[in-house]
Amino acid sequence: MSNRGNFSSKLGFILAAAGSAVGLGNIWRFPYLAGTNGGAGFLFIYLICVLMLCFPVMVGEIAIGRNAGSDAFGSYKKLGGGNWGYLGLYGILAGVLILSYYNVVAGWAFGYFLEISFGNLLDHQDFGSFFGDYVNDIGPLFFFSLGFMVITAVIVAQGIAKGIEAANKIMMPGLYIILIGLIIYSLTLPHAMDGVRFYLVPDFSEIHSKTIFYALCQAFFSLSLGMGCLITYGSYVTKDQNIVKSAVIISMADTSVAFLAGLMVFPLVFSLGAEPGQGPKLIFVILTQAFQSMGPFVGRIVGGSFFLLICFAALTSTISLLEVPAAYFVDQKKLPRKAVVWGVSGLIFVLGIPTMYSQGLVPFLNKLPFHNSPDFLSFVADLCDIMLVSGGCIMCLFIRSKWRVGSLNNELAIGNPGYVGSFVQGYINFAISWFCPVVLGILSILVIVDKYYGLEWLFG
Ligand code: PHE
Repeated sequence: MSNRGNFSSKLGFILAAAGSAVGLGNIWRFPYLAGTNGGAGFLFIYLICVLMLCFPVMVGEIAIGRNAGSDAFGSYKKLGGGNWGYLGLYGILAGVLILSYYNVVAGWAFGYFLEISFGNLLDHQDFGSFFGDYVNDIGPLFFFSLGFMVITAVIVAQGIAKGIEAANKIMMPGLYIILIGLIIYSLTLPHAMDGVRFYLVPDFSEIHSKTIFYALCQAFFSLSLGMGCLITYGSYVTKDQNIVKSAVIISMADTSVAFLAGLMVFPLVFSLGAEPGQGPKLIFVILTQAFQSMGPFVGRIVGGSFFLLICFAALTSTISLLEVPAAYFVDQKKLPRKAVVWGVSGLIFVLGIPTMYSQGLVPFLNKLPFHNSPDFLSFVADLCDIMLVSGGCIMCLFIRSKWRVGSLNNELAIGNPGYVGSFVQGYINFAISWFCPVVLGILSILVIVDKYYGLEWLFG
């Protein structure tokens, strides 16, 4: 295993995995999904999903990776033999697709950082229509996304300890500091408490089956589950590390950033008298309005640093997304890391081009015949969500029927003397063998029906 590279310290793995988890999912996607799905009700369901469904899946993935010591494909193949490798490939494909659209959104954020810090973005009057024009101004966006992909590739090409680990150690703490600063600011504004109420006091009549789907998919996406990312990172973890404890820390870090992002956004939304359910443009519109109200100088500094930190958060996620296919080609095909990284990132960038054109520029890419995903960006994002949730479900079936829960327990007991016989062991065993496969299996099917046909199709 040593020639593949390892994380140089326990903290290194936790920071890298938390860096993978914390990203656009937390700061961009979580607030807008909470905004369109009832606020506090969404948060409530989200937290239940993280605790009951996602946590056991996370532990399972890391354990598989550390035990097998290989990439997603190699790990499933080694532990399950024969066709199980395809489950790894399914995850790798999901990672490639996620990165193709994720990189485009990261390019938007990168552009906002540049335009706020060095341009005149904050001089505009209507940030909603500005955003609409901006995401269709393909020339600059092309370069922003390309720039983002190049930065990701440069870091991943450096390998595990030098590139991935060092980048995370600097970026994660900065993000917390600026988030907390912005929360304090937003809570001092008039009507901020209406936002806090919307976000923290659940109205159970607002919770629908769709709230559950969105919350579950979001939790999988946000925790980087179901596609082999944590198998790959798990394969670089040393045997003295306590996997369960690491998973607790990673989940808490990720959930806290999502929670804080909501706590920053909704007071701002309500104090500006804006609409919480405006979809993907929410933070781009609301935050720029807030930065504008801070005055030209302060707005530029605070707004610029905020979007820069979003870029950092996104970067630690794109790094992990690129590492999954890269590790596959390095481990399985014995190709040199640098060549693989540049080849794969070039391909993924090209795959993202339809997403770039899907915000209005090419009408066809905006009118796909799918119920909830008429534009190409939502289509790919929804497809990936389904792949993650179903991937998590099949991973549980893999442990249950092939690798065996006993082997999982043996792996989890390494570096964790109190694990055997504990309540946590009891829950993880129950969840991996029964609860998760059943619930995730049923929900995967319902999510497919809902996203592409509409649930009404099934239930009339
Ligand atoms: N978890 C990342 C985010 O929230 C996205 C991601 C998904 C990264 C899957 C890796 C794997 O932004």
